[in-house]
Amino acid sequence: RIAGPCSLIIFGVTGDLARKKLMPAVYDLANRGLLPPSFALVGFARRDWDHEDFAKIVHDAVRDHARTGFREEVWERLAEGFRFVQGAFDDDSAFDRLKETLEGLDKERGTDGNHAFYLSIPPKAFPTVCEQLDRSGLAKEDGDHWRRVVIEKPFGHNLESAKELNAIVNGVFPESSVFRIDHYLGKETVQNILALRFANQMFDPLWSSHYVDHVQITMAEDIGLGGRAGYYDGIGAARDVIQNHLLQLMALVAMEEPISFEPKQLQDEKIKVLAATRNIEPLDDNTARGQYGPGWQGSEKVPGLLDEAGFAKDSTTETFAAIALEVDSRRWAGVPFYLRTGKRLGRRVTEIALVFKRAPHLPFDKTMTEELSQNALVIRVQPDEGITLRFGSKVPASSMEVRDVNMDFSYGTAFTEASPEAYERLILDVLLGEPSLFPVNEEVELSWEILDPVIEHWAQAGTPDTYESGTWGPTSADEMMSRVGRSWRRP
Ligand code: BG6
Repeated sequence: RIAGPCSLIIFGVTGDLARKKLMPAVYDLANRGLLPPSFALVGFARRDWDHEDFAKIVHDAVRDHARTGFREEVWERLAEGFRFVQGAFDDDSAFDRLKETLEGLDKERGTDGNHAFYLSIPPKAFPTVCEQLDRSGLAKEDGDHWRRVVIEKPFGHNLESAKELNAIVNGVFPESSVFRIDHYLGKETVQNILALRFANQMFDPLWSSHYVDHVQITMAEDIGLGGRAGYYDGIGAARDVIQNHLLQLMALVAMEEPISFEPKQLQDEKIKVLAATRNIEPLDDNTARGQYGPGWQGSEKVPGLLDEAGFAKDSTTETFAAIALEVDSRRWAGVPFYLRTGKRLGRRVTEIALVFKRAPHLPFDKTMTEELSQNALVIRVQPDEGITLRFGSKVPASSMEVRDVNMDFSYGTAFTEASPEAYERLILDVLLGEPSLFPVNEEVELSWEILDPVIEHWAQAGTPDTYESGTWGPTSADEMMSRVGRSWRRP
């Protein structure tokens, strides 16, 4: 579907996210023919730029980060709708100018009074910007003309602050106009969890405590935190990605079949899972956290977190976090969900693995199954997108030796269509007013309810363990699993 006439206003247009993701995604959408001719992109920032500077910034961002090839005619048509408004968030006159600019665009380009405000700014600036949008009359829907606000995480740093933040946003925009970005939900492989589970018959009978021993959700990154201290110090891995991305992945894996894919039906099923989720106690044995020290990333020597610019020398911010959860439902009782994430780990990989119980009896000589592990269904979210089924197979020419083999589905070989970038899909959905892929406030709050006790426990438990960069995290994470006779996968 093609978006209707509208303008997209980006606050924080000088930031990294705008440059690497948002502006390239807008271009890619235009290039794919998904934006209407009456579309405008408006940048708002303190920087002393004029329209030409802004157009150049967008141009460079597109050149460096767009997925689709550069086409002059697409660019020119798009660039005619670029506007830049210079000002500070607390400057009333800047918002009055923004209003004039948008009204001008309605007339010149036919954007029709439909505006999406993208707050790609630190949450502490949300109240001011929301107030300004309210004061200037820009937040209010006007007849058939819609107003939407897009907010980026972090949605608070705990339950209490999330509630405060939400009260501020909802004080100005009705919940139906608020789009909370969790970019993992924009990934093709994540949306495919629903297709895998609900379009097929063969997996469902296995999808429960009858056959599943445990689930591991891993989001490993090889990058460090150089340049991100301002955002990350004091936040840490659990708040940065477990509270949102990993709990959303877990909800999609654990939820019941929705009545339909209507947004409300989907949200309701995810909410039920999150409401039934609790930490496995005691937290000391069932969580782990770490901070990367110096080490090697491939052949490159890399510094530890405490030597990265901007981090406090005694920072206790965790860059690795692992937690164990249980979902109190008939389907999942007794099945642990292990969630882990970390920076500067062995490699970049996100995957969801359903690890199955062992066969109750193996009629083989013991020596024949030494290399047989548990069956697993692995959803490879990235980078090598696909699905793997691991099972045992007879080694050719052996008497009856059984060893693990993989059956693979790869996006690259199965489909000729390329996957759009997550932000492309999500920005388009905002412009279309399609809320399925955006977590609602209740999901955000339930996620904090799960995470808050863990973070409080860690705050009292002293400093995080150190792990060498380029390894798979602190030994405490391995111990957390070995204590219960399991081990982390090494994807
Ligand atoms: C962001 C986190 O939400 O996701 C970052 O704030 C992280 O710390 C990023 O690096 C990873 O996204 P992706 O899509 O590259 O897995």
